[in-house]
Amino acid sequence: MRKLAAGNWKMNGLRADGVALAKELAARAAREKIASEILICPPATLLFPVAAVLDASGIALGAQNCHAEQKGAHTGEIGAAMLRDVGCTYVILGHSERRAEQGESDAVVCAKVEAARAAGLSAIVCIGETLAERDAGHTLAVVERQLQGSLPTGLNPAELVIAYEPVWAIGTGRTPTADQVAEVHRHIRRLLATRVAEPAAVRILYGGSVKPANAKELMSIPNVDGALVGGASLVAEDFWAIVKACG
Ligand code: PGA
Repeated sequence: MRKLAAGNWKMNGLRADGVALAKELAARAAREKIASEILICPPATLLFPVAAVLDASGIALGAQNCHAEQKGAHTGEIGAAMLRDVGCTYVILGHSERRAEQGESDAVVCAKVEAARAAGLSAIVCIGETLAERDAGHTLAVVERQLQGSLPTGLNPAELVIAYEPVWAIGTGRTPTADQVAEVHRHIRRLLATRVAEPAAVRILYGGSVKPANAKELMSIPNVDGALVGGASLVAEDFWAIVKACG
């Protein structure tokens, strides 16, 4: 399976820095042969200018959220079809920051995954436990509840990517041990059998403080099919090192 190296820029970047970063990545992609698939997910304001830079670079474009409806009276929202129209092929859904800050439930995420599918976007569905949940021994149960609640049935593997992101590892510099990552990814792979026809063909990314220094080890863990990268994706050199670690 071709690994996916995805950069989540979150709410970072004005036009000049976003375009410069995308240009630098496109230039590197043109110079070097990279085996993994590369994806960048800028904030919505940068999708259009970054799409123009990435054109024909082989780097895919994704958004960080969409609405459950394609259009209508939803002030301030963006529909999946609009994202597809501007050049996106992916959309991150159910990121823990949105689950916490916007109160997005599994049911809301599930409706958004349906909308993404209808618009022809692949959904990157984020799941992961808090530190309190891990300490209480509930990690696998939390991941199971989120996965079952956030995924509609009948998806095909190309329409779905899972990102396992322990909340306590995001932006903290802390990462789970290789054994902890392996245990959760193995569990997710098993659970996927209840949702998709070909669970082995769905990519399961690890996310949470992926850095150049730990990427190789994380990417060598069984059932880890790529990385969802926040902070390190804002620095071309660092993101590129992670892209290369993905193979
Ligand atoms: P981080 O963020 O790499 O900065 O920890 C990851 C994410 O939230 O997707």
